[in-house]
Amino acid sequence: MNEAKRLIISRDDIARRVRELAAQISKDYRAKDPILVGILKGAFIFLADLVRELDFPVEIDFVRLRSYGPGTTSSGDVRITKDLEVPIKDRHVIIVEDIVDIGYTLHYLREHLSLQHPLSLKVCCLIDKKERRAVNVPLDYVGFTIEKGFLVGYGLDCGEKLRTLPEVYELLD
Ligand code: IMP
Ligand code: MG
Repeated sequence: MNEAKRLIISRDDIARRVRELAAQISKDYRAKDPILVGILKGAFIFLADLVRELDFPVEIDFVRLRSYGPGTTSSGDVRITKDLEVPIKDRHVIIVEDIVDIGYTLHYLREHLSLQHPLSLKVCCLIDKKERRAVNVPLDYVGFTIEKGFLVGYGLDCGEKLRTLPEVYELLD
C-alpha cells in the first residue's frame, strides 16, 4: 500500500494525550465504577491504550455500529450490528469513540444507551473533526480537534485498510 498521506498526530503526541485523558477520567470516575463502551472497530486501539493508563480497574464492553459504506462519508443510516452484553442500568457509562465527524453515529448510540437508564452517560473521543458536524452531540473528553480531512491509523480505517498504523495520518488524494 502506498497511498499518499500526511502525518497528523505522532505516536508520542497520541501517548501523551491519552495519558492526560486517562488522568482526567481517573479523577472524575475513580469512585464510580464506570463501564467503558468502545465502538468497534475504530476505537479498539484507543480504548486499549486508555484503560491501561487509568489508575483504577474498569469494566469494558463493545458495540459495533455501521453507517459507512466503502467510501469516506457516513450514510446517516446507522445500525447496531453488535449490541452491549453488560447491563448498564444504574451504571456510569463512558462511550469511547475514535472520531466524531457528522455526529450521526454518537447521537444514535447515546439515544440507544439512554433507553437502558444509565446513571450517567458521557463521551470520550480521540478526535473531534468539526467541519461536517450536523448533529450537536456533547463530547466530554476530547483528545484532539481537527477541522477536516479523512484520517487513518491508530484504529481509523479507510475501507478496512491502514487501521493498524501507530500514528494518525490524513489521506491525500
Ligand atoms: P459520523 O456519524 O459521521 O460522526 O461518523 C463517525 C464514524 O465515522 C466514526 O466512528 C468513524 O468510524 C467514521 N469516520 C469519520 N471520519 C473518519 C475519518 O476521517 N477516518 C476514518 N473513519 C472516520
Ligand atoms: Mg467509529
